[in-house]
Amino acid sequence: MRKHTLVAIGITLAATAALAACVSERAPGSDAPTGTAANAVANASQGAKVYTECAGCHGMTGQGTPDGQVPAIAGQHASVITKQLRDYREGERWDARMESIMQEHRFNDDAQIANVAAYLAGIRMPPAGGGPGGETEIRAHGERVYAQSCAACHGPRAEGSDAQVMPRLAGQQYMYLRRQLHDVVDGRRPNIAPDHIALLAPLDVDDIDGLAEYLSEIAL
Ligand code: HEC
Ligand code: HEC
Repeated sequence: MRKHTLVAIGITLAATAALAACVSERAPGSDAPTGTAANAVANASQGAKVYTECAGCHGMTGQGTPDGQVPAIAGQHASVITKQLRDYREGERWDARMESIMQEHRFNDDAQIANVAAYLAGIRMPPAGGGPGGETEIRAHGERVYAQSCAACHGPRAEGSDAQVMPRLAGQQYMYLRRQLHDVVDGRRPNIAPDHIALLAPLDVDDIDGLAEYLSEIAL
């Protein structure tokens, strides 16, 4: 019994010493991982409040609209959302609706952008779909084109990457994907790199329809 108690005390002391070492290593002002996680939670709940300003267009759950106007943004990587919002604010991505929202004073704040991005990134969304469906031939064609030309960057399941600021395309609205693929090629997305435009330019209508159908149906 006594032996056990001593061992227990020994473990407690060792743990306390280790903890103290950690605390003194991190202090002062370094990015302690626990602190960062705690902030992320706080930010997301702040972001939920900000999102009430967005839900009228993007939908209660961030699913967008099937008409191709408003994209799904739930489940998108926080880094991607942040970049796109800043691009609208700086006039590097064009859309009258998003530009006017981002240029209003209340969204000039990078902290607000980070909060709403953290909130949205944490939402799980079923694939938006919205394509004609059932056309297996064109969908299979899209899947092949994707594997060949896109997967290397956007990921094998179009999951994107937060660290690489790479957009998730999986589960995006079908009509929105089609519109973006045309908009990029037609020069209406100035924030897309010239070599990305060159990659999309040779795609024909079947490629674009197939890609949009395949991508819009991927569940992550
Ligand atoms: C008046 C309607 C409207 C409101 C309100 C609105 N959006 Fe949008 N949003 C749009 C439209 C339309 C687009 C697509 C624009 C385009 O084609 O570039 C868009 C695009 C986006 C994109 C780019 C998505 C992508 O896949 O590239 C993000 C991110 C976004 N909105 C976030 C927000 C956030 C966050 C808010 C609230 C602060 C918000 N939006 C409020 C209409 C709106
Ligand atoms: C070399 C890497 C790379 C390759 C290959 C690539 N992309 Fe992208 N793509 C990107 C990056 C980076 C962005 C984000 C650009 C930005 O910041 O707006 C992007 C953005 C997009 C967008 C806009 C998403 C949105 O909602 O804003 C679409 C759609 C897209 N890519 C489709 C494709 C398709 C389809 C292919 C294959 C034919 C492809 N990409 C190949 C890197 C790549």
